Amino acid sequence: MSHTERMPRTRTYLMCPPEHFTVEYAINPWMDTTAPVDPVLALKQWQMLHDTLAELGHQVHVLDPQPGLPDMVFAANGAFSVDGTVYGARFKHPQRAAEAAFHQLFYAQGAWRFADPAFVNEGEGDFAYLPNAYGGLILAGYGFRTDPAAHAEAQEILGRPVVSLKLVDPAYYHLDTALAALDDRNVTYFPDAFSPASQRVLSQLFPDAVLADRADAEAFGLNLVSDGRNVVLNTEAAGMADKVRAAGYTPVTVDLSELKRGGGSVKCAVAELRP
Ligand code: ARG
Repeated sequence: MSHTERMPRTRTYLMCPPEHFTVEYAINPWMDTTAPVDPVLALKQWQMLHDTLAELGHQVHVLDPQPGLPDMVFAANGAFSVDGTVYGARFKHPQRAAEAAFHQLFYAQGAWRFADPAFVNEGEGDFAYLPNAYGGLILAGYGFRTDPAAHAEAQEILGRPVVSLKLVDPAYYHLDTALAALDDRNVTYFPDAFSPASQRVLSQLFPDAVLADRADAEAFGLNLVSDGRNVVLNTEAAGMADKVRAAGYTPVTVDLSELKRGGGSVKCAVAELRP
């Protein structure tokens, strides 16, 4: 199969090193508090991801990690921005609540319009943006973390249509574990992570989506970061790498085995900033 050449677009990202990363509480099915994490390996793997994105030509900002916030490495959850406006996060679990203020402080240093959320939402964990789909479309997940009321709130703050998608499998508790933007208009997703009605919505909106299977989802293959051409995903997700390659993208793999113990991978560790 031949494809027109996939064009990368330079991005700005925000990441937070796993200096205080541990699994000391379990708020998703992947977290096992009895299995120790290797902090040195976690940092080394994170640095590889950071350097991979920088070498692809992207700007990567780094947020100061905070003691007592072991999940802060999952920077995607801290906010969701579209066209210079930031919709802040409000975490579901008290263990992560304090992370939101550190993200807010980061945006306060730049030229962002920051909106405080009234409803529970976990930033880019449950929100994705496709600038060239239907004139600019937000996809939003609910069912485990983000309150569906936050979807309407995000639409009012960001001025883009928000399509609500219901997640039904606790292993795929955030939208970004089950769906990813491959470029400005197309997505890849694992259908069974969504309710039958939401699967219907996705197939109507994205007839050309790259469909992933359970093995891809289990390997956190959907938890990827793409610049429109280079698709950064974790090494374990070999089947997913093949699928994106067949669709004309270039898979770039990084080993993030330690972060998986927290229930996250590439995308969870990277927030995209949309000035
Ligand atoms: N331990 C974290 C939590 O359960 C993992 C977050 C993963 N982040 C993501 N964007 N899916 O909240």
